[in-house]
Amino acid sequence: MTERLRLRRPDDWHVHLRDGPMLAAVADATARQFARAIVMPNLKPPVTTAAAAAAYRERIRAAVSPGIAFEPLMTCYLVDGINPDELVRGHGEGIFTAAKLYPAHATTNSAHGVTDVRQIYPALDAMQRIGMPLLIHGEVTDHNVDIFDREAVFIERTLKTMVADFPALKIVFEHITTKDAVDFVRDASPNIAATITPHHLAINRNAMFDGGMRPHFYCLPVAKRELHRLALRAAATSGNPKFFLGTDSAPHAVETKEADCGCAGIYNAPFAIESYARTFAEEGALDRLEGFASEFGPRFYGLPLNPDFITLERAPTPVPGRISAAGSELVPFHAGEVLDWRFVA
Ligand code: DOR
Ligand code: ZN
Repeated sequence: MTERLRLRRPDDWHVHLRDGPMLAAVADATARQFARAIVMPNLKPPVTTAAAAAAYRERIRAAVSPGIAFEPLMTCYLVDGINPDELVRGHGEGIFTAAKLYPAHATTNSAHGVTDVRQIYPALDAMQRIGMPLLIHGEVTDHNVDIFDREAVFIERTLKTMVADFPALKIVFEHITTKDAVDFVRDASPNIAATITPHHLAINRNAMFDGGMRPHFYCLPVAKRELHRLALRAAATSGNPKFFLGTDSAPHAVETKEADCGCAGIYNAPFAIESYARTFAEEGALDRLEGFASEFGPRFYGLPLNPDFITLERAPTPVPGRISAAGSELVPFHAGEVLDWRFVA
């Protein structure tokens, strides 16, 4: 008999959907699995106003195939000196679900990011007051700090002070990659949570150098050593509601990844729930997948659980090596592998 897993429909609490032809190519991959997604604002130019976010939301809705119900949840890209009134108004009008802190130059399209968190303290004050979550790319950008230490150093240098200064601010420490982040979030107050990606649960930093340079395993924050991966797996499968699903699916055309300065980002949307299912099955925790994927995120954001359900079937599921997109190709996470769970509907 086929083994089936029925889950309340999940949401993706961190995704890059891009814009234009790439958006058109990737939107369905997220929308067919997830009912809602927190959409990153790191476009060129970044989404810094409610009007820009509302227009982007319409472009996303138009890119999703008819018949697929999908709700994009928009975020505001925080810049130095951003006017808190814009955030409060956008949140009040139901356009901004959250706001995103990219330290300047931390990652793709973050040149307009925040140079010093004190530059956004008025915004954080307003967000704390109205209960609007702050989403954090938690890495220092100091090039004197080893790239594998930048998340842990961010906790010490920046996050601890912010949390002390805004103790009631809802914070999502996004795409955590270290045991340091797991420990910090676990021990913090209930208004502090974290998302965990499929890839940081599946690979450690060796994957990037396995027999040669493997650009399709390069993302930011970069995968860390095995002890960190194991801490992430333990956190994700623990049933602790502070840890929930966020894919950080980040498509880049193959030629921009396989380049002398390749882009950071792993495109995992097409097989995201299958990838998480593999991790949870390996950990003997399939019964905890639904909380992580479908319950803890909405509860943290104060949103209703999705009313419908999805089915996964235990069946060999080959992942293509490449997927055509926007006049080029994307290499999906798990390319060329056979996964053992299949998303049915
Ligand atoms: O690997 C990443 N890719 N990390 C990020 O923070 C940004 C993302 C992207 O936009 O490509
Ligand atoms: Zn991201």
